[in-house]
Parts: sequence; structure tokens; C-alpha cells
Amino acid sequence: MTLPPDRFKGFRVGLEGRAEAARLRRVERYVPEPGTPFVVHEGRRLLSFCSNDYLGLATDPGVVAAAVRVTESHGTGSGASRLVVGSFDIHDDLERELAAHTGRPAALLFNAGFQANASIIPAVTSEDGFVVCDSKAHASILQGCRLSRATFERFPHNDIEQLDSLLAAHGEGPTLVVTESLFSMDGDRAPLAEICEVADRHGALLMVDDAHATGVFGDRGEGLAAAYPRIDLLLGTFGKAFGSAGAFVASSELLRSQLVNFCSGVVFSTAPAPPAVGAARAALEAIRSGTIDHECFHGFVARAHERLREAGFDTSPSDSQIIPIRLGDDRAALACESFLRSRGILAIAIRPPTVPEGTARLRISLTHRHTGQHLEDLVEALRDYRGVS
Ligand SMILES: Cc1ncc(COP(=O)(O)O)c(C=O)c1O
Repeated sequence: MTLPPDRFKGFRVGLEGRAEAARLRRVERYVPEPGTPFVVHEGRRLLSFCSNDYLGLATDPGVVAAAVRVTESHGTGSGASRLVVGSFDIHDDLERELAAHTGRPAALLFNAGFQANASIIPAVTSEDGFVVCDSKAHASILQGCRLSRATFERFPHNDIEQLDSLLAAHGEGPTLVVTESLFSMDGDRAPLAEICEVADRHGALLMVDDAHATGVFGDRGEGLAAAYPRIDLLLGTFGKAFGSAGAFVASSELLRSQLVNFCSGVVFSTAPAPPAVGAARAALEAIRSGTIDHECFHGFVARAHERLREAGFDTSPSDSQIIPIRLGDDRAALACESFLRSRGILAIAIRPPTVPEGTARLRISLTHRHTGQHLEDLVEALRDYRGVS
């Protein structure tokens, strides 16, 4: 059947041609080689610096075995939402463990961090409210803010004075402040102590997305936000350091109950699948029991910053496993990506609209699977790129 040529007229469909022209087109093309930091691209093996499986737990034998065990005992799917017949003992157990791990009274599971952010924010705000988020907050936070019926504004990245002024200008109404603890594209941190203080002074609810810090930071891998009791909604994800899929929000019992009843991402979604829940429980156990050598990983991250700086690359504002190598415009970022690929290394160029215009970069993501030699290979290739560019 031939479709009429104007079938998609007026729809946001068929934008690829224009995106290609603007060098922005995105395609899925890399096949991971499980258990290693390598991927295969058109038959070639590339050393990848793109995975968020920071601790290598996605292929950890203990985590894999737990996922298999839970699949055998509980099946592959939950069959219904939590409120119907999809609530298993393993959901309750994981929630209890996460609440204890983050020092909160309660926790609630979601199928994905995106779903959590997009549905929690509308569930706790109303028409007469105000929601304000950091200008570099993740797309899912933005989605949640836009879906909320509250008035929405963004404050300049990590600018506490501006946040303070916005909250003061808004007055006494119900206000929600949302930010990330460790920003996904720059690898820098939010000043959480100051944000808590400002939120407290204005009587605002505070939600912090700890997606990239969960499992990686904290004495027992509890993340960066757990240390701040003032944070009302603490979001963690399982798709990154936990090596599986899903998310949780840790909060008071009252907020959990609000979400169970009014959060569309909970009410209208099949409960997280048993294999993912089993994997997340095993990952949590590995993270909090000290099986993971966090100190060694942070040492490796610090050395990577040092080596990249020595090679002439400014890694600021990051001090984490997410390292932006800023290259300016899209063309430079793509040229560098392509040069590295010719040297057998994959570091994907991140371009607008994911990051602001003029700040296209390679996003380097370090994991437990990388060795000192992998780091040296990256540094050498980047240095050579600098020499030819
Ligand atoms: C800060 C942040 N929040 C939320 C998400 C979404 O999490 P998930 O992949 O579980 O949907 C991401 C994913 O990239 C993220 O970087």
C-alpha cells in the first residue's frame, strides 16, 4: 500500500532529513559486548566510554544469578499494576531495603527514572502551585514540570541566589523545587546543603534526582542526596550503577501514599518486572555490603581527571565518573568522535538540544570495567586528536 505523500503533514514526523542536514541525526548502531567495556560497530570492536553501568553490575554473576532465581520463583512479568494484582513480596522487600538504605521512612518503585520524574511532579503539584527546576535538569524532570498544572520556571544552573529570588517572588503558595545531585551531562554536583537551606526558608518541597550518584557515592553507596533529611523526594534509578532497570523514590509515608494513589506512573503502569526487582535487590546488597571497592573506583576517576588535564583537556566542572570534554560546536564534537573511532575508541558526541548550543562535547563515562591501560589509550587518542585538529 502506498501512503499519500502528505499523510504526515502537520505532524512532527519525517524530521530526519532536516536533522541530518543539521548533523543532529541520531541512530542506534552499537552492540555492547556484555561484561566488557567494548561494543561492536559494523564488525569492529571499539573500547566504549559511554555506558552508565558504572559498577559493572549488569553482568555481575551474583546479580545475574539473583535475577534468574527471582524469574524462576516469580515469573518474568508482574501481570498488573501494584494496585491491582501486581504487588509481590519482592516489591515490598526492595522498598523496605531502599528506605533503610537512604534513611527514609518509605520508598516506592517505578519502571524507569523517566517515568518517575514525569509522573511524580504532576502528582504532587496543583494549579495554584509553583514548580521550579535547575536549567540543566534531565529531560524527564522537564517533562514532569510541563505536565504539572503548576506555574513552571527554571533557575540558572546551580544559581542559589536566583533560586532564592524566584521563590521569594512567588510568595507563599505551594512550591516544589527539583534538581539533580550529580548532573548527567557535566558530571558536576548541585550544592545540596544550600538548596536545602533555601527550600527550607521558603517552606518548599524538595525533590532531588540522584540517578547518577545512586550506588556510586556515599559511604555505603547510598548516593549524594541521602545525607540530607530535608529532601522530601529522593529519586534513584537502577538502570545505571545498579545495572538493571527501574527506579525508586524514597520519601515520607505520607508522600508515598499520595503517589500510590495519584501518581499516573504507578497507578496506570504494570508493576516492575520480577527479574529487574531481583537484580536490583542483589545489586543493592553488593553495593551496601562493601563488596564493591568504591575507594578504588574513586581513585581511578581522580586519576582520569588528572591524566586528561595533563593532556590539556579541562574536565571542569566535573569531579565525578562523568567527564565532559567540551569541544564547542557540533562539527568539532563529531570530528573528535570520528577521530577516536578511527583509533578504536567510542565516546559519543553529545549535541544540542541535549546540551546548550555551543557546548557540544564528548561525554566520557568511566566504569569499574575500565583499566588503567584503557584510560591511557583514551588520553593518547585525545592528545593525538588535539595535534591534528
Ligand atoms: C538524571 C536522570 N534522571 C532520570 C533518568 C531516566 O532514568 P531511566 O533511564 O531509568 O529512565 C536519566 C537517564 O538518563 C537521568 O540521567
